Amino acid sequence: MSISGAVQFLESRIQIRPRAAVVLGSGLGGFADELTDTVSIPYHEIPGWPRSTAVGHAGQLVFGKLGAVDVAVMSGRVHLYEGYTQYQVTLGVRVLRRLGVRSLVLTNAAGGIHPEYRRGALVLLSDHINLQGSNPLVGPNDDSLGPRFPDMTEAYSAEFRELARQVGDEQGIPLKEGVYAALLGPSYETPAEIRFLRTIGADLVGMSTVPEVIVANHMRMRVLAISCVTNMAAGILPQAISHEEVLETGREVRETLIRFLKALLARAGERWTD
Ligand code: HPA
Repeated sequence: MSISGAVQFLESRIQIRPRAAVVLGSGLGGFADELTDTVSIPYHEIPGWPRSTAVGHAGQLVFGKLGAVDVAVMSGRVHLYEGYTQYQVTLGVRVLRRLGVRSLVLTNAAGGIHPEYRRGALVLLSDHINLQGSNPLVGPNDDSLGPRFPDMTEAYSAEFRELARQVGDEQGIPLKEGVYAALLGPSYETPAEIRFLRTIGADLVGMSTVPEVIVANHMRMRVLAISCVTNMAAGILPQAISHEEVLETGREVRETLIRFLKALLARAGERWTD
């Protein structure tokens, strides 16, 4: 299982050279349908590529055009809680970078901790807190990918966030901004854990994204991440959290998110040619 094996396989299957990519989170699929001239490759066909087992994750890599911009869409991701290693969870992002992707947009479903958030809100990540107990860069450093100790002071590109805010304004899509805490899962948090997360400065909680953001920074990608608040976090409202609610909210905001991503990638394609 190697990065170059997957890269070689994909290069033999696609003509386009994507500069931007989108990773779709739980229940947030559908964006790939917006592309034209598509080539869809199921994960199981790609050497070494892990298959997603989570409900609500499709499991294919789609290449295509969004207007004039060549993009790749990872429809479905794998998580640490499924039992995959950090290496497997982040392989896709590394392969995309090797294929030429510089701008990366990650989406996820998250629990809302900030008292001003509501179910269905879209939140741009400004920073994260890694509480997953591990890091994808542990082990010998591959200097051809990036440095041993990558800087994370602007893990989420301020310029990309600014562009996202402009697009949100133009499209009439309200966007909040917040700090994402990543936990291992798969159980949802307890109310005491959520009070702890709030105290340490988290606005959102989820079980993904952070490993991908770390390897993307390692490889000097431009990262934007958007959480869909699919539910308020444990103990914030007097009700239990269910995966069905998470998926249902995902479906409700899907159209808005697709409209936003379409406009955003067009603008990103105009702004950055690398
Ligand atoms: N906690 C953790 N992950 C999540 C949640 C949550 O409340 N909602 C969606 N993903």
